[in-house]
Amino acid sequence: MDRNSRRNFVKAISSAAGIFALSPSIESVAKELDTQLLIPQVPFDEDMTKNEDYWVWVQQSYSISPNVINFNNGGVSPQPVIVQDALDRYNRLSNEAPSYYMWRTLDEGREGLRLKLADLAGTSPDEIAINRNATEALETVIFGLNLQKGDEVVLTKQDYPNMIHAWRQREKRDGIILKWINLELPSEDNDYFVKKYEEQITEKTKVVMITHLVNWSGQLLPAKQISQMIRRKNKNIYVLIDGAHSFAHFDFKIPDLEGDFFGTSLHKWLSAPFGTGMMYIKKERISEIWTMFASDSPQSNDIRKFEVLGTRSFPTEMATGYAVNFHNSIGSLRKQKRLHYLKNYWVEKALNIKGFSVQTSLKQEFSGAIATFALKGMTVAELSTALFKKARIHTTGINWENINGVRVTPHVYTNLKDLDRLVDTIYSIAKEI
Ligand SMILES: Cc1ncc(COP(=O)(O)O)c(C=O)c1O
Repeated sequence: MDRNSRRNFVKAISSAAGIFALSPSIESVAKELDTQLLIPQVPFDEDMTKNEDYWVWVQQSYSISPNVINFNNGGVSPQPVIVQDALDRYNRLSNEAPSYYMWRTLDEGREGLRLKLADLAGTSPDEIAINRNATEALETVIFGLNLQKGDEVVLTKQDYPNMIHAWRQREKRDGIILKWINLELPSEDNDYFVKKYEEQITEKTKVVMITHLVNWSGQLLPAKQISQMIRRKNKNIYVLIDGAHSFAHFDFKIPDLEGDFFGTSLHKWLSAPFGTGMMYIKKERISEIWTMFASDSPQSNDIRKFEVLGTRSFPTEMATGYAVNFHNSIGSLRKQKRLHYLKNYWVEKALNIKGFSVQTSLKQEFSGAIATFALKGMTVAELSTALFKKARIHTTGINWENINGVRVTPHVYTNLKDLDRLVDTIYSIAKEI
């Protein structure tokens, strides 16, 4: 990194980190609403994947505990300080006169946020609804689709439980038929996935659900190829994509996947405030989906009909723009590469440990930051407890269908030293088995 680039970079990150943060006056908050659309310039165009000088600044933009090593970013991510500050500011402002500031001032910011999210997602803003999480986004579609008794829905046993429960409820209530796929993971064969979905499609198929990145093990599914296969068979089948873990983790645009619907959380890989999510519905499909919470025109083709949620947190929503700025200051491709690098960094070292096995591919085409591993002779619970006891390493245990192991999820702020600590700790646990 030359001196000039370093200076520019420090400037960009300093402002992104809120080092020159504005005071929390009403004027400054109002002014920031106007500036929310400004995206910090990406300071370098070179590949920074392994440049620790760069990533240390990203790390310093978060307020991560030095006492716990957090490797469950897959559950929910922390927010950079700039996002936390915005949230506090908007919250304080709202508390000065809630209905005035939330409903007359902050509410004005939603269209700006929609533009920003649409830009990141590669969609029209009229295809993006802002809501509270992936569950809300995906269940809005699941319950909003017109389905009749006997209609078939294709899904996998490795989908997320909330979505499975929603489909099971429709099965019980409406008599739809669920056609299950059981995936053997990991796989580095895209044709395998396409074939598994294809086998379940019949003349009665109305919907196919695809989990883009399997949360249990970090397997990336070829959503685009699966959608294309479905379209070739029958253009009228709806494709619903669960992108809870792929959005702001991988560098792609939602329409690239050729689905009709896409739901994601923003409090995972985007590092937006807790309780933020986004739903994409292809323009021509909007009028076909009923809203979960009724609006005055439930069959209109205006995506905003899905935002009649009653009173909700405006500060949370408005601080999301800062998370998008932060993400853009890194850049989607650079972030994807770094996340993949971090996962491979520790897994490649751990592969030498006796009894270690991993249920995640190391290839970029099939994985990102998430990896799930096991140690022969130890249960998942024993292993995850030992990691915490020995080194205060926080992970999550996975026991779901045919996936059993401890899931490790670093994030952009993760330090290589912490990954070394992880590998050393696994090594010392393995020695004691
Ligand atoms: C694949 C997948 N879908 C959906 C969700 C639900 O996300 P949320 O809790 O933000 O609604 C998760 C959460 O971990 C997930 O992993």
